[in-house]
Amino acid sequence: MQTLNIIGAGKLGRTLGRLWRQRQVFEIAAICNRSLPSARDAATFIGAGRAVDTIDTMPDADCWLIATSDGQITAVAGALGRRAERGHSVIFHCSGALSSEVLAPCRPAATASAHPVHSFAAPESSLQTLAGSSVALEGDPRALDILGSAFTALDCTTLTIEAENKSLYHAGSVFACNYLTALMDLSLRTFAAAGIDRERALQMLQPIVLQTARNNMQLGPERALTGPIARGDTATVATQLDALRAADPQLAQCYRQLGLACVELARRGALPEDAAKTLTELLEEPSR
Ligand SMILES: NC(=O)c1ccc[n+]([C@@H]2O[C@H](COP(=O)([O-])OP(=O)(O)OC[C@H]3O[C@@H](n4cnc5c(N)ncnc54)[C@H](OP(=O)(O)O)[C@@H]3O)[C@@H](O)[C@H]2O)c1
Repeated sequence: MQTLNIIGAGKLGRTLGRLWRQRQVFEIAAICNRSLPSARDAATFIGAGRAVDTIDTMPDADCWLIATSDGQITAVAGALGRRAERGHSVIFHCSGALSSEVLAPCRPAATASAHPVHSFAAPESSLQTLAGSSVALEGDPRALDILGSAFTALDCTTLTIEAENKSLYHAGSVFACNYLTALMDLSLRTFAAAGIDRERALQMLQPIVLQTARNNMQLGPERALTGPIARGDTATVATQLDALRAADPQLAQCYRQLGLACVELARRGALPEDAAKTLTELLEEPSR
């Protein structure tokens, strides 16, 4: 079995470490976090691995996972690059925003990035829910071979992308995941302005938000879009915009920007061109 060292066994690193150990994909060799107690804690969670307090004291390994926060990856890659024996290893990180280029100091090791499209907010629950997630891979072919098999063994689906597309790829996830969360907050703030408390609003939103997510997956956004913009109901949009501006200008600003995106989407559906034009003018109107 190939050996794996983990630098930065936080939420993602410890989850992958434990799953790879359980599936006998990698033998976990050493773990280095910022503090030794944290590395020990990760070793306990993973059920294997020697906790160490510096990268220099880590043993050689076939593969190295750098799963620190993104801001630390370059510095860690520099420290790894100073090790003499790295030539035959595979060194990878899991950042969605960065490409394998940041690992250039580690060459001639085979370098890669492997980004799981999954939220590792709670490692215990990710152990159960990671299967079925997609993992975007880019980097050296030798590294991609090993990582493709390693993630397939966790029942993930892999896809390969080009290094130069990494930022756009990551922004795509940001729209769907982070901005969806921001949308929920905008919705709750708007309900609060209408006198509906948070708990009641969440209760009200749960079925419709889940149904909307399902519709998007099953029908695609063009057919899933409903509401005043899809219907070309200009008067309703104007009234809502006025009410939002009176309640909180930031809510009105977000409504206008997202409304314009909805008009573009509705145009690809059944929205007539004259209605699309009127709605665009209304949403772009500076006084609204
Ligand atoms: N969380 C997610 O949902 C998710 C999803 C996809 C990809 N990712 C990527 O996965 C990576 C890790 O994210 P995360 O959320 O797991 O981070 P995290 O929970 O904050 O864990 C980071 C770990 O790195 C350690 N660390 C930080 N600087 C270090 C250094 N210089 N040397 C050694 N260890 C260091 C920390 O040690 P201490 O514990 O001692 O502080 C901590 O254990 C990031 O590249 C992120 O973009 C995360």
